[in-house]
Amino acid sequence: MNVLVTGGAGYIGSHTCVELLTSGYEVTVIDNLCNSNPKSLARVEELTGKTVKFYKGDVRDEALLRRIFSENRICGVIHFAGLKAVGESVAMPHTYYDNNLNTTLALTKVMAEVGVKNLIFSSSATVYTADNEMPLRETSRTGNCTNPYGWTKFMTEQILSGIAHADNRWSVVLLRYFNPIGAHESGRIGEDPRGIPNNLMPYITQVAVGRREYLSVYGNDYDTHDGTGVRDYIHVVDLAKGHVAAVKYALENTGCEVFNLGTGTGYSVLDMVKAFNDANALEVPYRITERRPGDIATCYADPTKSAQLLGWKAEKNLTDMCRDSWNWQRSNPNGYGE
Ligand code: NAD
Ligand code: WQD
Repeated sequence: MNVLVTGGAGYIGSHTCVELLTSGYEVTVIDNLCNSNPKSLARVEELTGKTVKFYKGDVRDEALLRRIFSENRICGVIHFAGLKAVGESVAMPHTYYDNNLNTTLALTKVMAEVGVKNLIFSSSATVYTADNEMPLRETSRTGNCTNPYGWTKFMTEQILSGIAHADNRWSVVLLRYFNPIGAHESGRIGEDPRGIPNNLMPYITQVAVGRREYLSVYGNDYDTHDGTGVRDYIHVVDLAKGHVAAVKYALENTGCEVFNLGTGTGYSVLDMVKAFNDANALEVPYRITERRPGDIATCYADPTKSAQLLGWKAEKNLTDMCRDSWNWQRSNPNGYGE
């Protein structure tokens, strides 16, 4: 069975391609490489000994999508393609709404035309409102997003649930990721952010490898056990396996279901620094700085529904995440750029 992976050259997409291929699926990728390097797919092939059929292009290009569906017998689509930098989305709202909404609209239009109606979408824990009780359940309140990126995820969830509601042959799975970190244990594929990293773990690894001087810890006066922000970090390989489970679920069901993909455990920024140092026998320098606007104190998942309906649970621990993040960065100090 052939799965079309949009954004498959990216961080989560490349790890998901590996898990799909090792689970016996064929994989076709469309990616315009606006935030990735095609070397990731060459390495997916090297790791699995299987081929990935790659189309370089934009998911908003309906003619290209029609060609892909006509040249391959696609059974379902995992839709990762999108822009994901929160701060950039505030500065460039039109770019974010155009890319993140029009990819989904073009994709679902062509999928409906060709009669492929199984779709897995990359949503985010960012769709939950800041005033929820922890842990977050799929039924927790959503909306009130603080930036255009978050709104694109919220709106895409609305669009896809509307499509599934209007035509009961659709099977839509909305996956709300918490904080993916780590890398394939081989160190051959991993996260390769362009410019200054926005997220905690790539920043830590770039300090450790000498590309940045120190980590800024954004605030230590939150209402958490040590005052720094608490998040639910999940190993990207566990996350990738969640997508394989979601494909199986989508092929066997119809309708629209939403699932949290998290571990259920929250760690603070200082917990992360300590775990990284302990796992890798390093000492990452840090300084406490101002809070980052828009951040919340605490965010972690209740992953019970995913365990019950997808039969999926995160298996890797914080030491695995820290070791694998460092293994990737240390063997690829400049990411795929060499
Ligand atoms: P990524 O940037 O590494 O991967 C996204 C890929 O999509 C890139 O390879 C990029 O080149 C491609 N792309 C973007 N726009 C495209 C377009 N119009 N046409 C074709 N290709 C396009 O990001 P990632 O971390 O792998 O995230 C994948 C998805 O998961 C995104 O939708 C992101 O919003 C979502 N997500 C990520 C996180 C996270 O922390 N990494 C958390 C929650 C949700
Ligand atoms: C984690 C913690 C920071 C960097 C973001 C998006 C979210 C989702 C995942 C896509 C926070 C602190 C960070 C640094 C720090 N992405 N921090 N110094 O903000 O939970 O989520 O990525 O959907 O939508 O908002 O992740 O890794 O940026 O931050 O102290 O240099 O680390 O304040 O407490 P976040 P993050």
